[in-house]
Amino acid sequence: MWGGRFAAGPDAIMEAINASISFDKRLARQDIEGSRAHATMLASTGILTDSDAEAIREGLLTILSEIEGGDFAFSAALEDIHMNVEARLKELIGEPAGRLHTGRSRNDQVATDFRLWVRDQADAAIGGLLSLQRAFLDQAEAGADWVMPGFTHLQTAQPVTWGHHMMAYVEMLGRDVSRFRDARARMNESPLGAAALAGTSFPIDREITAKALGFDRPCANSLDAVSDRDFALEFLSAATICAMHLSRFAEELVIWSSAQFRFVRLSDRFSTGSSIMPQKKNPDAAELIRAKIGRILGANVALLTVMKGLPLAYSKDMQEDKEQVFDAADSLLLALAAMDGMVRDMTANRDALETAAASGFSTATDLADWLVRELGLPFRDAHHVTGALVKMAEDRGVDLPDLSLADVRSVHDGITEAVFGVLGVHNSVASRTSYGGTAPAQVRAQVAAWRERLDKDAGADQT
Ligand code: ARG
Repeated sequence: MWGGRFAAGPDAIMEAINASISFDKRLARQDIEGSRAHATMLASTGILTDSDAEAIREGLLTILSEIEGGDFAFSAALEDIHMNVEARLKELIGEPAGRLHTGRSRNDQVATDFRLWVRDQADAAIGGLLSLQRAFLDQAEAGADWVMPGFTHLQTAQPVTWGHHMMAYVEMLGRDVSRFRDARARMNESPLGAAALAGTSFPIDREITAKALGFDRPCANSLDAVSDRDFALEFLSAATICAMHLSRFAEELVIWSSAQFRFVRLSDRFSTGSSIMPQKKNPDAAELIRAKIGRILGANVALLTVMKGLPLAYSKDMQEDKEQVFDAADSLLLALAAMDGMVRDMTANRDALETAAASGFSTATDLADWLVRELGLPFRDAHHVTGALVKMAEDRGVDLPDLSLADVRSVHDGITEAVFGVLGVHNSVASRTSYGGTAPAQVRAQVAAWRERLDKDAGADQT
């Protein structure tokens, strides 16, 4: 492509470090889409004849079907996807192929291809997240009033409802969706026509290509257009945060599915056995999801490190942007799909949840609140009285509701029979009706509100 200036070909090692075709062939569809839009624009601005543009557009379609059919010989000597496609176009249509690169450069070309690719991945992530939200909503609705222990420090804290716990993830994933949407909206500007770095003297029309490729507008500064990868970094940041959320639920599934907890049963479809211990059923999918954040965060750090300190505009360092993002996107989408399957398939063990919820003195706060409300004790004193009752129960190896009225009154003689009404876990969760609280009525309201929101969202997507 630059034979005019060079007498010798590259060293084999140079070719090895320089070529990107082994991975950037994943951009083939976007590259061809971008080139077809560019050819159309060149014809409509009179820079190319209609017949040349038509030959180019047809030739590019042929190449796309060759590539998608696995029928294309990629060459490392041709460096990257852009030159592989252009060389093949030359073979197919001859002279007009050489006119395609008018008014553009590989710098704006790769920036365009990569934005299109990342945009697709953001859309796929949003789709995966919306589906996973619905999976959590189904779980929440089914178990809006199932009682389980709520934890702080992984120590039993207060009883909560299963539905409430599931809805916490619906909230987190909802913010993930909005992060991907924000990133998508900001990245949706077209670098095409920025050319190498300074724009071009040809009378191109960047609005035409932007529109044809589904961008909102062309990037306003050609130096910026070819040299920033912040769109990929925003995608990776959103992906990292999302992977962190998935990792937390994955960890809960690992704990909950253990013989010591028995809170959930994972389906056979998302578990594995042990080759030596016949009794084992391992939560491998959950463990792998828990781990995916490692490579996704790694990609985020790697690309940020590649980009820091690069002078404007393009530098070849930026070719190192792709593999990390490809791997991170693959990892995230796979993790979302696996989590979706696991959440849909998992079965909560209601009895184990309730038994666990009732142990560990989980209603101690309810007792303290009762002392404040009914006997007018300052909260600090109520805390003290309750602590003494917990100690008494602990010494006897029983739970709070198992103490007798006489026992209880020996610590504070103002206490009446009515206190036992607040020591049960169902009463406890039902009483927490504050907005965002764990009461089944609150959970059901949140489920309904989210369903409406998601349905509206899906309706809006179709229009
Ligand atoms: N393969 C290159 C990349 O991924 C394409 C851009 C090459 N541009 C250049 N000026 N050498 O970045």
